[in-house]
Amino acid sequence: MNVGRQTILSTERVRLTTWLPSDLQDLAELHADPVTMRFIGHGRPETVDEACSRIVEYRNEQGHRGWTKWRVEDNDGDMIGRAGFGESDAGRELAYALRPDHWNRGLATEIAEALVRWHLEHPPVGPASSSLCAYVEVGNQASVRVLEKVGFTFVDRRFYKGVTCDFFQFPAASRSRTV
Ligand SMILES: CC(C)(COP(=O)(O)OP(=O)(O)OC[C@H]1O[C@@H](n2cnc3c(N)ncnc32)[C@H](O)[C@@H]1OP(=O)(O)O)[C@@H](O)C(=O)NCCC(=O)NCCS
Repeated sequence: MNVGRQTILSTERVRLTTWLPSDLQDLAELHADPVTMRFIGHGRPETVDEACSRIVEYRNEQGHRGWTKWRVEDNDGDMIGRAGFGESDAGRELAYALRPDHWNRGLATEIAEALVRWHLEHPPVGPASSSLCAYVEVGNQASVRVLEKVGFTFVDRRFYKGVTCDFFQFPAASRSRTV
C-alpha cells in the first residue's frame, strides 16, 4: 500500500506523484540505463547510491518548497519515468526522463503541457525568478522537439553544468489588468 503518496497532477495517460523511499529500485533502473542517461547529468548511467541521493533530494524539495521532479506512473500505477522542475540560474527548469519503451508516443509532450499549466497555476514563492526555462544538451533532438511543441522559445546556446546546451524559455504569462 502506498501510504503517503500524493498525486500532483493527472493527464489522460499518466499521473505525476510524490516519491516514497520504496521507489528506489524503479528510479535506480531508470537512471542505470545508458540510453536514457545519454543527455542527462554526467551523460553516464548512475549507481544505486546516486539514485538513493536523488530520492532523498526529491522528497526534501517536495517538503520544503512543494515542487520537484516527480514520479511518473501510467494508468496501471507502474513507474515509467520522472518529470517536473529543477532550480536553475534562470528560474524553474523543466525536466523529464521516460523509460525508452515509452518514447515516441507523445507522452513527454502530454506531460510537459501539464507541467507548464501547473507552473502557471503555482508560481514560485519569493524573490526568485518566476520564469520557466529548459536546458537541452546539444544533440538531444527529441527533447528540443518536445519543448517546441509545448511553446518554448529557443534563446541561445550556452555552457551549463559542464556541457554545451540549447537554452529555452517559456513566454512569461501576461499580467491581467484590473481597472
Ligand atoms: C526526451 C524524451 C523525454 C522525449 O519523450 P517522448 O515521450 O518520446 O516525446 P514525445 O513523443 O512527446 O515527442 C518526441 C518528439 O521528438 C521527435 N524525435 C524523437 N527522436 C528524434 C530525433 N532523434 N531527432 C529528431 N526528432 C526526434 C519525435 O518524432 C517527436 O516529435 P513529433 O511529435 O513532431 O513527431 C525521451 O526521449 C527521454 O526520456 N529521453 C531521455 C531523457 C532525456 O534526454 N530527457 C531530456 C533532458 S533535456
